[in-house]
Amino acid sequence: MPETILEISHLRKLYDDLRVFEDLSLTVHEGEVIVIVGPSGCGKSTLLRCINALEDIQGGEIRLRGEPVSKENRNLQSIRQKIGMVFQNYELFPHMTVLDNIMLAPVKAQGRKKEEVREEALDLLKRVGLESKADSYPRQLSGGQKQRTAIVRALCMHPEILLFDEVTAALDPEMVREVLEVILDLANQGKTMLVVTHEMQFARAIADRVIFLDEGRICEEGTPDGFFDEPKTERARKFLNTFTFERKGAKN
Ligand SMILES: Nc1ncnc2c1ncn2[C@@H]1O[C@H](COP(=O)(O)OP(=O)(O)O)[C@@H](O)[C@H]1O
Ligand SMILES: [Mg+2]
Repeated sequence: MPETILEISHLRKLYDDLRVFEDLSLTVHEGEVIVIVGPSGCGKSTLLRCINALEDIQGGEIRLRGEPVSKENRNLQSIRQKIGMVFQNYELFPHMTVLDNIMLAPVKAQGRKKEEVREEALDLLKRVGLESKADSYPRQLSGGQKQRTAIVRALCMHPEILLFDEVTAALDPEMVREVLEVILDLANQGKTMLVVTHEMQFARAIADRVIFLDEGRICEEGTPDGFFDEPKTERARKFLNTFTFERKGAKN
């Protein structure tokens, strides 16, 4: 069995009196790609934000390689650096070039040598087809290029795990593929990832395991073929059906 990277046990998360998770547990092993799907508002983003300690939690525990991810842990900053997160809206600094955006955290937060980071950043940019954009500013990039930059920025921190939250949701359709291909490539390199997406074909292609979240719990969990071909619960069937309908509808 591969090593456990992330262990979420009995997570309880409330926003005031809104209960998002009551008792959610999930173990992620090294090299595993887990795709999280579920209806809007079921807590997908909240889960990723809890993993990164961007949210307070009201119970349970999250551990990265055995170390508690919590505000009480004095090592929280260094643990957080091992968790790469890519959001829907890139969050690049507008006044900094692509290269400077990528180099900022490795140099400032990790204290690595500028030259070494620069070399790695350029190499990663090349791998995602952006070598010519190193000195451009975010406003000079397309949405797909910005998102690939954001992925490189996360990778340059050498994270143990990558979290992707609907990273193609804000992109024009023709740019979705170029970003999904980068993520697929990372999966093939054996990176450990949690991916929230509404791109179901992509989910099926990339996932080792699919998790269906609904009403604050893991409602269903299985292989991609099992989940998409033979969902076990009525809720999952309903969710997948809506999806098929929406996609067909969108084409007309
Ligand atoms: N900062 C917040 N304050 C209060 N409620 C929130 C906050 N963020 C999310 N929620 C609520 O928590 C639930 C889960 O939200 P979210 O994790 O964003 O869902 P998803 O990403 O699956 O669409 C929703 O009901 C949402 O309205
Ligand atoms: Mg969300």
